[in-house]
Amino acid sequence: MQMRPYDPTRDHEDCLRIYGEIGWASSSENERRAAALHQEIGRTLVAEVDGGVECFASNQDARLRYLDQDLPACIVAGVGTGRVARRKGLAKRLTAEALALDVIEKDAAVAVLGMFDQGFYDQIGFGTGAPDKLVSFDPGDLRVPTPTGTPVRLGVDDWERMHANRVASLRGHGGVALEHPANTHSELLIHKNGFGFGFEEEPDGALRHHVWMTTDAVRQGPYAVRWMAYRDREGLLELLGFLGSMADQIHCVFWVEPWEIQVWDLLDRPWRRRMLSVGSKHETITRAHPWWQARICNLEACLDAVRLPMREHLRFNLELTDPIAPLLTPETAARWSGVGGTYVVEIGSASGVEARAPDPALPTLSTSVNTFSRLWLGALPASGLAVTAGDLDAPDTLLAQLDRVLCLPTPFLGWEI
Ligand SMILES: CC(C)(COP(=O)(O)OP(=O)(O)OC[C@H]1O[C@@H](n2cnc3c(N)ncnc32)[C@H](O)[C@@H]1OP(=O)(O)O)[C@@H](O)C(=O)NCCC(=O)NCCS
Repeated sequence: MQMRPYDPTRDHEDCLRIYGEIGWASSSENERRAAALHQEIGRTLVAEVDGGVECFASNQDARLRYLDQDLPACIVAGVGTGRVARRKGLAKRLTAEALALDVIEKDAAVAVLGMFDQGFYDQIGFGTGAPDKLVSFDPGDLRVPTPTGTPVRLGVDDWERMHANRVASLRGHGGVALEHPANTHSELLIHKNGFGFGFEEEPDGALRHHVWMTTDAVRQGPYAVRWMAYRDREGLLELLGFLGSMADQIHCVFWVEPWEIQVWDLLDRPWRRRMLSVGSKHETITRAHPWWQARICNLEACLDAVRLPMREHLRFNLELTDPIAPLLTPETAARWSGVGGTYVVEIGSASGVEARAPDPALPTLSTSVNTFSRLWLGALPASGLAVTAGDLDAPDTLLAQLDRVLCLPTPFLGWEI
């Protein structure tokens, strides 16, 4: 296998062939442009087999909010292998290499991805995040006033101001913002029947808040809200009020509920509507989907971000394994080979980590970077991970302390990646 950076002139058609084989959009002009943008704006590595590209791995630059701090992040945004080159280890090695280069050259502290299934990316150190809640409801049930202002229509050509509004949008713990405006452009190009509405900031025409939607059923819905971007509570309510204003025509809207609200609080008699709509394509229901994974890439930076508003401090030995090292080229592994090792960790109002031999006076937590990343993000408590993760070992007293001290908001990405 020959691994090298993506060359747009040489590799675009080969990558489109792979897009076609794996069922990602690749045939229309918009889809071809979207694919080109996607491959070009971040770091894309390709692997050649018999003179043609048979695998690619593309990363995008991002920020991830941890409590009230932004960490530099790498998004593993696309991985694909052609049909003739499966199960040769191409995707695993390419993904690992691209990630390591982002850690070395761009200081990525954490990596995040949307998974096709649980298991594959576990081999590179990723652990599953918290589920998103996909809520579907009748916008006519919303108890939110119709906005007095009139929104502007938004289309693909508005990608720059939509992106600016998205990255300035409210983000909570775990919230991700992709850096490059072309990310939004590329997303808009692949959405069929996409349309948006925004409320503008006077006088410069920048967006204060906006919503982007898609649908296969324009007449009555369901409509999928692909995202809402808003900078404050009033913006969120105005967008919900706008959805409500479409209720004379549309029976159902799908939306990934943001971290800070529960849509049912705003619905009129949601249980009655739920029971009356069971089994319908316009069903009122909330479904949970654990679809993303994350891993720590820089243990020092990630632990430094743990600043908890409490007096209690916790110190323990950490024995951490990381499966990534054998997947890296020797040149890259010599510069970064994951975060496996033995450490002493401190967690509290100021937290940190020291690479050193275990302190015999402290309790020891042994686990993988996969599981520790889930714990650090707050996807699940230590006591639960000890039951389900299969690779976390610690005395019960330490688990109980971790549950009490490392008590974090549920992480919410807020960006389809
Ligand atoms: C996923 C994909 C990129 C893997 O490509 P590949 O080059 O065949 O992958 P690799 O050879 O590096 O790794 C395959 C290994 O992962 C394993 N694997 C795949 N899915 C797995 C899962 N859900 N759980 C555990 N292991 C899994 C395979 O069994 C295989 O194991 P082996 O190395 O012991 O034989 C390829 O199947 C593909 O292009 N799929 C369609 C596009 C897609 O879904 N991309 C991912 C987007 S998030």
